[in-house]
Amino acid sequence: MSERRVHRVIQWGTGNVGFHSLRHVIRHPDLELVGVHAHGESKIGKDAAALCGLSEETGVIATNDVDALLALDADVVAYTVKAETRPHEVVPELERILASGKNVVSTSMIFLIYPKHADPSMREPLEKACSIGGSTFYVNGIDPGFSGDVLPLTALQLSDQVEEIRVQELCDYSTYEDPEFTGVSFGFGRPADYTPPMALPGVLRAGWGGMVQLVADELGIELDEIHESFDRRYAEKAFDTPMMHVPAGTCAAVRFILEGRVKGRPVVVTEHVNRLRGDIAPDWPMPPDGRPGVHRCIIKGNPDVQLECFVLGEDGDHNTGGVQATALRVLNAIPAVCEHAPGLISTLDLPYTPSRNLIRPD
Ligand SMILES: NC(=O)c1ccc[n+]([C@@H]2O[C@H](COP(=O)([O-])OP(=O)(O)OC[C@H]3O[C@@H](n4cnc5c(N)ncnc54)[C@H](OP(=O)(O)O)[C@@H]3O)[C@@H](O)[C@H]2O)c1
Repeated sequence: MSERRVHRVIQWGTGNVGFHSLRHVIRHPDLELVGVHAHGESKIGKDAAALCGLSEETGVIATNDVDALLALDADVVAYTVKAETRPHEVVPELERILASGKNVVSTSMIFLIYPKHADPSMREPLEKACSIGGSTFYVNGIDPGFSGDVLPLTALQLSDQVEEIRVQELCDYSTYEDPEFTGVSFGFGRPADYTPPMALPGVLRAGWGGMVQLVADELGIELDEIHESFDRRYAEKAFDTPMMHVPAGTCAAVRFILEGRVKGRPVVVTEHVNRLRGDIAPDWPMPPDGRPGVHRCIIKGNPDVQLECFVLGEDGDHNTGGVQATALRVLNAIPAVCEHAPGLISTLDLPYTPSRNLIRPD
């Protein structure tokens, strides 16, 4: 178990995930917020509490002054900046942070969930920065992340003679208010002749292939290929959601699948079904019991094993729960990451990293 002490945190990014990350850092007895990086003009100069809907001021003021932030005495940066669309800016920024000696726990740069799988052009400069700074870099989230590492590796502990490991995110995204990134990259609300970034060859493999490769490596099997497929369904009539207006004839549901294959047979599979309304594409896999979402792992083996994970946020919404869980997956890892030897690490390098923030009965 990692040493129990207070860790000093800089929150870098205050969007969907950063909002919740900030709330958890501020309220966590073992974490001390010492700095906040914001990008938007309207956020700079504001108290951290104001950026995450808390009423009690923290005295920590958001800034975009990187030198000032890196001069702070901090153990770790919680990095939740929009990254996958701007790696040419993000990799140099992460290099600076890591070379300055700060550890980084990140939900950004999902390509680096399993560093071994990542493109060397991203991995190598960050490895160098870690060795200069003596720092450690860990990327995770709920999916990609938890659903593709802890969930299958836990389920596999109960099985034998394994034929297939399938990880699913089946989730109604209608309340996920992220039209600019999730909306655009999945192609929601766009017609069939729009090719969303995620449908471009290699993009799914870069983002989600790491979790397929990680499980294959733990099984000790060599994959011949990671095959990707991307499918869409369209709205018959227009409808509105908190995410966006969906015009008739535009994309209202997405299904993508990555299959880690051996001799043509899928062995390690990651599947997403994301709808903007629960009744679209009823023939695709559904969450159980009328629920809006599930992260599920199905092991076909002897015996078969199925694990299901449901998250619900502090506002009662499953998408908020997913975003909170994404932030907490890396925040809860802070003690273990700070104790780890320098370098780029994955979940395989860490012990269990449970929350230790127990609300004690009065
Ligand atoms: N693995 C998972 O389960 C999972 C789940 C959700 C998200 N994620 C990842 O987590 C990251 C954050 O997601 P999100 O939903 O929080 O994104 P978001 O809501 O778009 O927020 C992104 C943040 O990036 C900042 N930003 C945007 N453009 C910038 C620029 N040009 N320079 C500097 N900062 C910039 C924004 O700053 P301002 O607000 O100050 O403008 C905002 O704080 C993404 O990389 C996403 O892929 C992973």
